[in-house]
Amino acid sequence: MSEFTIMFIADICGKAGRQAAAHMIKPMREKYSVDFVIANVENAAGGFGITPEMARKSFAYGIDIQTSGNHIWDRYEIRSYFKTDAKLLRPANFPPGAPGRGSFLENVGDVKIGVINLQGRTYMKDIDCPFVVGGKIVSEMRREADIIFVDMHAEATSEKQAMLYWLDGEVSAVVGTHTHVQTADEYVTGKGTAYITDAGMTGPYDSVIGMEKEPSLQRFLTGMPHRFTTASNDIRMAGVIVRVNPTSGKATSIERFCEKFNLENFKPEDITGKPRENATEVNANSAGAESEDVSET
Ligand SMILES: [Fe+2]
Ligand SMILES: [Fe+2]
Repeated sequence: MSEFTIMFIADICGKAGRQAAAHMIKPMREKYSVDFVIANVENAAGGFGITPEMARKSFAYGIDIQTSGNHIWDRYEIRSYFKTDAKLLRPANFPPGAPGRGSFLENVGDVKIGVINLQGRTYMKDIDCPFVVGGKIVSEMRREADIIFVDMHAEATSEKQAMLYWLDGEVSAVVGTHTHVQTADEYVTGKGTAYITDAGMTGPYDSVIGMEKEPSLQRFLTGMPHRFTTASNDIRMAGVIVRVNPTSGKATSIERFCEKFNLENFKPEDITGKPRENATEVNANSAGAESEDVSET
């Protein structure tokens, strides 16, 4: 294999995001001759975590490895699910004792791909150092892996860029998640590491980062907690496609995409492979809002 193609799906948010993933991943796999799909699923269950049932179903959508982030603990039942499924990752730098694991090594044909999930600490929980933990896993993984892909789940652009500098040339890709807004800074470094500060969100774009706008606004206006529900309009699936030379482990390209999804009219042949269009046209494509008990993001 002279080129290995990875598709990364940005944070799947709520029912809308799950529907887009369910319908779009398989046609995208075919269209771009994708060898391996990684998806961040930390917001799959109404914006807050993922249930074991959803995690199981997500693999059937065409996802090979699931990554996550700060919301992974929102559903209590996911803790025991980690014992049964090593392909759902939580950030590796949670302190020892946290259930689950933060990295996985998989054989795809004769290529060995390692996936590592890390979480930043700037404006986020003060967990173990992602640089120390990430560096240690990378140096161990490099003994076996042909390709290493890092999902760096962080709030601060600076922390994500610093992670790129820390792992530059040691891994094939450092892809940022968590802010839900796709950045336009994708590139491949001179040492062969593909990078983007944030891959975006797979879910409803007529929203405040996936949630209904009014409660989000009220939270800022009043400073009080408000009940959040995931929004349902203007659904898109976002992410990046990274191509890697499996012999050298160096990335050759990174392209972002942000594809519209309309449940009623969806046709796989309409997939364009283009970044988000500037004009936001809100369609009447409702996936149905989901009610949640969690009141804070
Ligand atoms: Fe997220
Ligand atoms: Fe997050």
